[in-house]
Amino acid sequence: MEQLKNAFINQFGGHGELFSFFAPGRVNLIGEHTDYNGGHVFPCALSVGTYAVARKREDGKIKLYSMNFADAGIIEAQVHQLEYVLEHDWANYPKGVTAVFQEAGYKLEHGFDVAFYGNIPNGAGLSSSASIELATAVLLKELYGLDVDMVEMVKLAQKAENEFVGVNCGIMDQFAIGLGKKDHAILLDCDTLNYKHTPISLEKESLIITNTNKRRGLADSKYNERRTQCETAVQELRSALDINTLGDLTPEKFEQHKHLISDKVVQKRARHAVYENDRTVKAVEKLNDGDIEGFGRLMNESHKSLRDDYEVTGKELDALAEAAWEEGAIGSRMTGAGFGGCTISIVPNDIRDSFIENVREKYKQRTGLSADFYVVEIGDGAKML
Ligand code: GLA
Repeated sequence: MEQLKNAFINQFGGHGELFSFFAPGRVNLIGEHTDYNGGHVFPCALSVGTYAVARKREDGKIKLYSMNFADAGIIEAQVHQLEYVLEHDWANYPKGVTAVFQEAGYKLEHGFDVAFYGNIPNGAGLSSSASIELATAVLLKELYGLDVDMVEMVKLAQKAENEFVGVNCGIMDQFAIGLGKKDHAILLDCDTLNYKHTPISLEKESLIITNTNKRRGLADSKYNERRTQCETAVQELRSALDINTLGDLTPEKFEQHKHLISDKVVQKRARHAVYENDRTVKAVEKLNDGDIEGFGRLMNESHKSLRDDYEVTGKELDALAEAAWEEGAIGSRMTGAGFGGCTISIVPNDIRDSFIENVREKYKQRTGLSADFYVVEIGDGAKML
């Protein structure tokens, strides 16, 4: 924070009152590619994230600076006239949130100066973009004294990403980052937005994130292709069923009606969405019963379904999950959109060091890449500091 404040003062000068904000990254424990299918997800907020220092301006300019992209310098725009600009790169996220807030009727009389610093590994699928979006949302709320609650800010942040940045994500990332709570995960029904915080109090185990260090792009056409395939499945199922999303189906109902889906690949995509939703609810029940092993088995099934039916893993994520299974993980799966990014594993504390060493070695042998390991600390959601 001290460094960020200094960077702010270097860029923008030291006058006036400064405000500080934080928004975390997120990791999803189970429930993947279910959010835009009206299903359940079970993510948690991380202790790493995006810090922001901001100050109101007297005029209508917004000036944005990031310590992570210092070479790009200060990016400038007009608060009442915000457009996506390719060269503005990372700054399109805060600009987008500022634009959608105003579209939603929140009045911003003046512009602002802001400096960001993030410590989420970039492009790892831990939601650095949703993190900067929510950091911007809380900043706007506090700087302008807006009467807006967190769920509304989460929806606006998702809207900014969908409409301003043009990435068709679901609501999970923004929700986990907005509503996160220390040492808890969130069981979220993405259809109704009903949610429940569930304590994650592992005594003999750790949650470990492993980064494939294979870069992935969420804007990747494959993500949108999966969404379209799921929509096709819903359309075809609606010839006989009164459903709005795949999340409305139990596995039994799906099995009875899957023949209505004409394309075999589309059928596999839908099967994943339906079974993954069911698994997520069951996994949280296991956790509440203290059955970590049961939770871990469902994590493994989730990975296999994402590998075989949804086909979003790829050789790096598969290599990591398989090495984790071989090396004694209670459960291990890819997390986030897939196509690279990270796995999340539950690992007994007494083998943690050898686990990391052996998985690192095997992954290197099998892919030629070096993985990074992080022990997860579950933190709070977006807030003013
Ligand atoms: C990305 C998206 C989320 C969600 C996941 C897959 O993280 O931003 O909305 O769809 O992929 O579960």
